Amino acid sequence: MNNTSVVKDWHSFSNFKEIRATHLDLTIEVDFKVHQINGMATWSIDPKPGVEHAIFDTKQMQIHKVYNQNQQALSFELGSYDEDLGRALKVKIEKKTTRVQIQYTTSKDAMALQWMEASQTAGKRHPYLFTQGQFINTRTWVPGPDGPGYRFTFEAEVKVPEGLMALMSADNPQEIKNDGVYYFNMPQKIPAYLMSLAVGDVRFKGVDERTGVYAEPELLEKAHAELEDLGEMVTTAENLYGEYQWGRYDVLILPPGFPFGGMENPRLTFATPTILAGDKSLVNLIAHELAHSWSGNLVTNATWNDFWLNEGFTVYFERRISEALYGEDYAAMLWDLGLQSLQHLIKQLPARRTWLFEDLKGMDPEEGFSKIPYEKGAAFLLKMEQVFGRKRWDEFVVKYFNDFAFGTIDTDRFLVYLRDNLLKESKEKAAGINPKAWIFEPGVPANLPRVKNPRFKKLEAELEKYNAGTPASQLEAKEWSTHEYLYFLRHLPERLDEVKMKELDEYFHFTETKNSEIAVEWFLLALRSGYEAIYDNLSAFLMVTGRMKFIEPLYSELLKTTNGKARAKKLYKEARQNYHPMGQRIVDKLLLEN
Ligand code: BES
Ligand code: ZN
Repeated sequence: MNNTSVVKDWHSFSNFKEIRATHLDLTIEVDFKVHQINGMATWSIDPKPGVEHAIFDTKQMQIHKVYNQNQQALSFELGSYDEDLGRALKVKIEKKTTRVQIQYTTSKDAMALQWMEASQTAGKRHPYLFTQGQFINTRTWVPGPDGPGYRFTFEAEVKVPEGLMALMSADNPQEIKNDGVYYFNMPQKIPAYLMSLAVGDVRFKGVDERTGVYAEPELLEKAHAELEDLGEMVTTAENLYGEYQWGRYDVLILPPGFPFGGMENPRLTFATPTILAGDKSLVNLIAHELAHSWSGNLVTNATWNDFWLNEGFTVYFERRISEALYGEDYAAMLWDLGLQSLQHLIKQLPARRTWLFEDLKGMDPEEGFSKIPYEKGAAFLLKMEQVFGRKRWDEFVVKYFNDFAFGTIDTDRFLVYLRDNLLKESKEKAAGINPKAWIFEPGVPANLPRVKNPRFKKLEAELEKYNAGTPASQLEAKEWSTHEYLYFLRHLPERLDEVKMKELDEYFHFTETKNSEIAVEWFLLALRSGYEAIYDNLSAFLMVTGRMKFIEPLYSELLKTTNGKARAKKLYKEARQNYHPMGQRIVDKLLLEN
């Protein structure tokens, strides 16, 4: 079957479907002195008859020259600048043009690039660079067809300063090359948003034959210990939904300025060091990025309006991996937290933003970002599991990944596929699902699934005891996991008095915790409560951590009081340089608005 969708992508200028750009040869040099990449991007094309132009996405970059396969100059023009989309690069081609070679230089503020000085890394001796392509930022470091519906293979030659390692979403080196020149090959076709590059003083340590960890030498042992179950995780995923199709699966632990928890770059997940809690309690984030090797990277949303097909499937799959590894009761906590945050989120967002199918035309997809595609998407799939039974549902998912492998899927096509391959088997069961309501209507669907969650039930009893005056030391908390702590903290009263805060802190040592998720929840409670003992640790945390999920709520909370505002401003002056441009944009905006 044809596994590629043809729907309009509002976030790309490219005429990929007409020029059929199948392969990229990239030659780049990374210049840390001036924070620029100088490059030559050569696209192999196979234009359909009558096509006179090849159109590529570019943003924040300078185009010097464009050549064809015979090194003859091709004439080109750059379209007008769109704040979100950048500029279309329109190259005049002929029938016999088979290659378009673009010579370019990135700009200092290219959105995809985070340049770090040596002082901003763990080792403090070498600079560091990494890219973040999703959603539409790859066009700021590689000119090309930058839409999730366009796939290509690539080869790259990357020159970096001597002594540094270069890594991509491709076949990666495991050792530093003395001359600083690295060659990459990616024989599986991927969309532009999954292209990635990281350059730094990074070392490798294998976990098993096909998995391993990259990190700065200072962090390598710790990262390796935290991720020692990586190989088992991949096997677990395969046992659920079929063979892992990408060769190796490695994880790169980035410096703390990384703006996300994780990013599913093929073969090499990028991850924040804030998951290194010391007790593996935050590695379900890796299960999430690994799951994208099927949902997202193998079967890709056709446009960003169909983002739920990437993230909803991935959250569902991630929880199935967690269940297989840590048991049903553990996964039930994740489901419960997800379903609760979904209900909470739906109350806050305007109705149109709570549909699964999004309408992102005319804006940067980043602006439209919320957790709805994640949690509502996953809940929708859980519903199908519950109605059709796990066995039948899993068969459907395996077939879906096979039928659309290395292709794309849009929402309408998914609905047809779902009907033909599952729903039509039983009118009665199908009636219990009502996909249209989930996808094209706002709010919480009437048939929201539920999960049995014995561990939170027990926890509720402890919370009740605590709220009735039982001291923290007398709670039965010995076996709490991170998720129980998070639930506990979230269900305390909005504010607590100084005495209670101190008592909790003395018993649980929340201010000192190395678990970033628990720390952030505690900092938020402390800020609301005016509990000042956290300030040193909060400042130290915000000074280096650029993960947007953490910095956004923390700065927002700080900005609510006069005292907090002064602190936030002072801190941000210094911390700003440690954040990724995407993180900077968010905090800049918060400070402007408050
Ligand atoms: N692909 C996303 C990260 C992303 C989304 C980057 C949108 C840019 C734009 C990744 O898979 C993700 O969802 N990461 C989450 C972790 C996850 C456990 C929910 C994150 O970074 O918090
Ligand atoms: Zn994801």
